[in-house]
Amino acid sequence: MKRTLLLLVLLCATTFSAVADKGMWLPSLISSRIKDMKSKGFKLSAEDIYSINEASLKDAVVLFDGGCTGEIVSEKGLLITNHHCGYDAIQSLSTVEHDYLTNGYWAKSHDEELPCPGLKVHILVRMDEVTDRLAAGESREEIIAKAEAEGVGFRAKVESMYYGNQAYLFIYREFNDVRLVGAPPTTIGKFGADNDNWIWPRHTGDFSIFRIYANENNEPAEFSAQNKPYKPARHFKISTKGVKEGDFTMIYGFPGNTQEYITSDAVKYIAETADPTKIALRTERLDIIGEAQKESVETRIKYAAKQANIANAWKKWQGEVLGINRLGTYGKKVAYETRFRTENPDKAYLLDSLAAAYERNMEGYFNYELYSETLRGIELQQVVNIALSERLNDEQKQAAAAMFYKDFVLDVDRKLAVAMMTEYEAMGTFISPELKALFEAHGGAAKYAEWLYDNTRIGTLESFSIEAALADPMAEFVAAVAPIQARIKPYTYRNFSNIPDIERWFRPYVKALMEWDKERAFFPDANLTLRVAYGKVAGYQYADGEYHLPQTTLEGIMQKDNPEIYDYNIPQSLRDVYASKEYGRWGVELNGKYTVPVCFIATNHTTGGNSGSPVLNNKGELIGVNFDRTWLSTMSDIEFDETLCRNIICDIRYVLFVVDKVGGASWLFEEMGI
Ligand code: ARG
Ligand code: GLU
Repeated sequence: MKRTLLLLVLLCATTFSAVADKGMWLPSLISSRIKDMKSKGFKLSAEDIYSINEASLKDAVVLFDGGCTGEIVSEKGLLITNHHCGYDAIQSLSTVEHDYLTNGYWAKSHDEELPCPGLKVHILVRMDEVTDRLAAGESREEIIAKAEAEGVGFRAKVESMYYGNQAYLFIYREFNDVRLVGAPPTTIGKFGADNDNWIWPRHTGDFSIFRIYANENNEPAEFSAQNKPYKPARHFKISTKGVKEGDFTMIYGFPGNTQEYITSDAVKYIAETADPTKIALRTERLDIIGEAQKESVETRIKYAAKQANIANAWKKWQGEVLGINRLGTYGKKVAYETRFRTENPDKAYLLDSLAAAYERNMEGYFNYELYSETLRGIELQQVVNIALSERLNDEQKQAAAAMFYKDFVLDVDRKLAVAMMTEYEAMGTFISPELKALFEAHGGAAKYAEWLYDNTRIGTLESFSIEAALADPMAEFVAAVAPIQARIKPYTYRNFSNIPDIERWFRPYVKALMEWDKERAFFPDANLTLRVAYGKVAGYQYADGEYHLPQTTLEGIMQKDNPEIYDYNIPQSLRDVYASKEYGRWGVELNGKYTVPVCFIATNHTTGGNSGSPVLNNKGELIGVNFDRTWLSTMSDIEFDETLCRNIICDIRYVLFVVDKVGGASWLFEEMGI
């Protein structure tokens, strides 16, 4: 009797903790988790995390450049995000003469903070549930228009949760004057690059520093020399006390996309069709770009951000397929669905309807994904689209073209076009008669692509004019692709399961799951809205007999340092500091050495978009900057496994150490309260 009781207690305890570190919670509903958070060491209240009336931590979190997160760390709008999130901006400011990617950039005063045209950050004003308003017949457009009229620079969005069972309005303030303050050299900010990407142990100093500027009323405004540093309602206090295994961690940011509730059919599609196809296509593109980058420094810079973007998901998908297979996600989903059917015979038709809906939409969704990975990536089309644009006036078109050509190499695009048109010809069942005719007239896709790039007259900025673009053979290609775009449009959704014809079955299915599976902690799938995840600093069993410690140090950087390899060739200043052992206040005893902490891992449930997110301790103080997941975690968008899944964080002490010892920019410390 006692033993069964003990077993029961143990079982409950494990299921409880197993559920608890998983999930990405809406901040306005965090009170439902606060008890669990407190039991794990959290010291603040739900109101500290999110409040409509008072300043709260949410006021210090920003959506950075539409796809990353950042955190405000001073009263003067100073903002930290990842190096890879600031990468586009840093690259745009870089030239062969001023190569801020390679050398880093450190403003020495406000005057040297560099404007970043086009870079925006969004700060959440508040979120409201609007399920009832929609049900009462108000349209999304009406709700958004009302919200945007509330204040200067207000931007609103209505997002569905749980496949449309609920809807929320998110109101943001959009800031357009954001300036670069500091960035480490790439060999720190992107140390290890693609080789180390998605891998632990990690030694990347993946941070960059910006500042938000506002007008004299502290409101969003276009860039102006008169603008002043933005004064946030709240900023994060930094803790330099450090972390240890088991410490509570919380992450506050904008996760982009998860698919927690999809059925076995969708898992199969991802693991067996979508991911393998996309991986193979990206391998081809990366080979072409990589070759060209090796040959020319100019091309290396021009294609740096493009290459990094392509490589990132390419590698992630490889880990994802491995992870789905390792966890047996497909089989688990099938078993779960069987149990659902057995226990809810009256609702079993939902699964049949879902399966039929997947079947109906499979070809369309595949063609959408295929188009995105092939034809869409042929870049010279963009200048024709600029010329055709109804939104831009002639002057703006000229400016947009100039921006386009700055990072464009015709010969690279030609090779990409030849390869991608060939693949599309082989796999694209939604090909338009127009494109088919072009291929046939030239003896196939590859020959057509060669001909196109031999005959285009808009390969350079000097040769560009609106008239030339509209009369170019490239315009004919764009016209031939348009019907394909129209045909895939009905399938253009965040995920396969969000196609309305599928989602309409998901809505009652997920609702039924919530009523049936009472043990499960349901959180809405990530959709680039603000979320809280929490967990703890923890190592993990990587392989049989191989435990991975949760923290890395400067020692590991020195072990990987290699002047012969671009991505591991650290700045001399870092070697010098290491040789001197003069770490000042950043020196600690860690992993058995006097050293400097670099990265750590935790059990927070995160995904793309959480890059740059503040990682907070139990008092809500900033202890690190999130930037990645480990290789065994990349399937966590589909199945999160708490024993394996870890997010990777750059220790705030390493950020400050680099600012201080490599950047010589300790003038920033005072405003950060360091
Ligand atoms: N894997 C991280 C994320 O998903 C970092 C990517 C940046 N690094 C790179 N080599 N592309 O965004
Ligand atoms: N690096 C990712 C990003 O850009 C975050 C890591 C992840 O996908 O978990 O958002």
